[in-house]
Amino acid sequence: MCGIVGYIGYREVLPVLLNGLKRLEYRGYDSAGVAVLNNKTGIYKCKGKVTDLEEHIKKDDGLSGTIGIGHTRWATHGEPNDINAHPHMSYRGKFVIIHNGIIENYAPLKETLVSKGIKFKGETDSEVLVNLIEYIYLKGNMTAEMAARLALSKVEGAYGIVLMCTDEKDKLIAARKGSPLVIGVGHEEYFIASDATPIVEYTKSVIYLNDNDVAVLTRSELILKTLKNIRLTPQVHQIDLDVDEIDKGGYAHFMLKEIFEQPRSILDTFRGRVISDGSELRLGGLFHVIPRLVEAKRIIIVACGTSWHAGLVGEYLFEDLARVSVEVEYASEFRYRRPIITVDDVVIAISQSGETADTLAAVRLAKESGALVLGICNVVGSSIPRETDAGVYTHAGPEIGVASTKAFTAQVTVLAMMAILIAKKRNLLDDKQYRTYIKNLVEVPDKIGAILKDDAKFRNIAGMYQHVNNFLYLGRGYLFPVALEGALKLKEISYIHAEGYPAAEMKHGPIALIDQNMPVVVLATKDHSYDKIVSNIQEVKARKGIVIAVVNQGDTAIRKMADHILEIPSSPSIFTPLLAVIPLQLLSYHIAVMRGCNVDQPRNLAKSVTVE
Ligand code: G6P
Repeated sequence: MCGIVGYIGYREVLPVLLNGLKRLEYRGYDSAGVAVLNNKTGIYKCKGKVTDLEEHIKKDDGLSGTIGIGHTRWATHGEPNDINAHPHMSYRGKFVIIHNGIIENYAPLKETLVSKGIKFKGETDSEVLVNLIEYIYLKGNMTAEMAARLALSKVEGAYGIVLMCTDEKDKLIAARKGSPLVIGVGHEEYFIASDATPIVEYTKSVIYLNDNDVAVLTRSELILKTLKNIRLTPQVHQIDLDVDEIDKGGYAHFMLKEIFEQPRSILDTFRGRVISDGSELRLGGLFHVIPRLVEAKRIIIVACGTSWHAGLVGEYLFEDLARVSVEVEYASEFRYRRPIITVDDVVIAISQSGETADTLAAVRLAKESGALVLGICNVVGSSIPRETDAGVYTHAGPEIGVASTKAFTAQVTVLAMMAILIAKKRNLLDDKQYRTYIKNLVEVPDKIGAILKDDAKFRNIAGMYQHVNNFLYLGRGYLFPVALEGALKLKEISYIHAEGYPAAEMKHGPIALIDQNMPVVVLATKDHSYDKIVSNIQEVKARKGIVIAVVNQGDTAIRKMADHILEIPSSPSIFTPLLAVIPLQLLSYHIAVMRGCNVDQPRNLAKSVTVE
């Protein structure tokens, strides 16, 4: 949440900041702002998007300099308006800050500062922090860095900040606790951002800040230390990310691009993990922990949002194939309810960003209990992979659209590979079955490619239902989590109310909603519960509901009953979620576009939820 970008070097800073903010806008887009430090400090900020900010800045063509900071906001404290937009300048004008996170004890801190005569312009917790830094700085007659460290040690909550001091003009100070920050290392220049996307066009060398790290950057030097002033040696990593991966590549939206990328992204997920003759799966990241994984008494999956839905598919996979008991938890609930975790448990955190605050907190809690803690993440070098014992990257490439699509299918692919691997090691699969599953997995990208060819058909159906107010999604077994995911996709981007249900549960409530205005998307592929889902379709039709059924190619029985059918190729049930979700992603996408919604940046949402 919130995108942060900072630069110190020799380039004209404004284009660096604005380009960076555009790349980070998926993290929050309520308001945006920049500050450039020169002989004077120029701050420009406004409600709205980065393009609004650009318009706003055009009024001043004198804004020039080689050191500056920028921010795109997802509001927590204070409504999104010009005043609450970042950067914030301190009361006496000595400091300018951008902040991502929440200062939980901002209220008592603010009260103290107000009692000292400090006046506030807006309502944000971030303005409290910058004023606290300035107050300590002026009172203690110390360096900016020292004041920042002292102030941050009084703060409860989460922050990723970048700070400039008007008395120390050639310096940026960055600090992190809970909210991610990456430093790009160039020649006589440094970049700072919430993630690497604004940095890759300048340098591939990055340093990830850890919690309680403070970085002091001048053009020629980076000093890394802890909040307690202990010097650290920066670890420089090389990132494997290209600029064209973070562009739209000719598609109207990132979301559409990412939906269409899935044949390739899934291939990337299993590339190098299916050994070439298809006889074996290898997950290098789990190599050292396989014995504990195979002997696990229980697997606990923690995640949020779409990743939680992938986790639910994981439950079916692990229980079905590997016969190990699984619990799938919302990370936010898990962390606060004193969960029982034993050393025999394996906790798997699933997160596209690797930064979701609740999931990260759940990881830390699980680690304290001595369980083996694994991560399934997409963003390389993010916090969860760095804090877990081991894990598997999904390698889906950057996902920019706020509504997750290719990350979901990549997560499910990893979970399927893990389940097959554990099942094999537990002697629950013979060689033939094992190889067959690997072959079926390798076929998935082409099958998705075939589904994507029907896009015009999905768009056509979307056109018929773009104006409805409610949607219901039903599925059983492996497709129940897909029903949840289909409903989530629709509500996230089109703002149509949608609910996903296990099909049999329909009779315990949702059936009361069904009438001739209610479209019901039924996931009805051929598996052991096919007859039961056919009965569910009849129950919907008996109440005049509109049935949009996802079926296997060649299904004739449901074709006769349903109002519309969306066909997908057949596959073993363990891989059906990867196929069945595709028509639902496209249906949501087209409905949202037809309703005039901003699909890549849906209202109120953010891609990376780094606050609780
Ligand atoms: C936000 C995003 C969702 C995502 C969820 C979990 O709500 O909008 O798309 O599924 O966070 O994010 P994670 O990065 O942990 O997978």
